[in-house]
Amino acid sequence: MRQIVIFNGSPRMDGNTATLLNLVARGAREAGAEVHFHTLFKMKFMACQSCFSCRINDDCVINDEVHAALQQVKTADAVVIGSPIYMMQMTGPVKNLIDRFFPLTDADWRPRFGTKKMVAVYTQGMDDPHLYESYFEYTAAVFPWFGFDLVETIVCTNANDPESAERDAALKIRAYEVGRRLALD
Ligand SMILES: Cc1cc2nc3c(=O)[nH]c(=O)nc-3n(C[C@H](O)[C@H](O)[C@H](O)COP(=O)(O)O)c2cc1C
Repeated sequence: MRQIVIFNGSPRMDGNTATLLNLVARGAREAGAEVHFHTLFKMKFMACQSCFSCRINDDCVINDEVHAALQQVKTADAVVIGSPIYMMQMTGPVKNLIDRFFPLTDADWRPRFGTKKMVAVYTQGMDDPHLYESYFEYTAAVFPWFGFDLVETIVCTNANDPESAERDAALKIRAYEVGRRLALD
């Protein structure tokens, strides 16, 4: 059974990021995958403390809820990260999560735990879907260090209204189908 780990980086529990990630999860589950869904704003976790012990050992010394999720990521077939855009970037908890992925890469920036598919879901208030494209590309450059093979980037625009994604039938189908493909392809 495929293992998929999903992280929601929005503080709005029923917002657009949650709507799209829930559909990815549903598509994946209905296609037979096991999905682990983490809501970062509900989790107690620390930022990376720069102890560098993960440069020697393939684990993090911080024993918190992200440590547990990190163990799931190590063995996962796919990882999905969803973030609203705040001040032209991912939200703070998502950045802290990505820093905590440091144990996934070795001293030569090679992935320690193999390759996994990855999907990025971004939601933004602005209505131009290409506005943050260069930021999405820049951010994606770090993913291969962790073994994440970015197969799809979904962007939801006009997302200040928490119902925007809910009203966008095509986007919802896309999110569901992405989840199915992560489970099947
Ligand atoms: C502090 C803050 C900063 C924001 N900065 C931006 C921004 O730089 N660009 C943008 O398009 N939207 C910005 N937004 C709007 C959010 O991206 C939008 O409300 C969010 O994607 C909604 O996602 P959600 O429904 O999942 O919470 C900002 C919102 C907040 C609260």
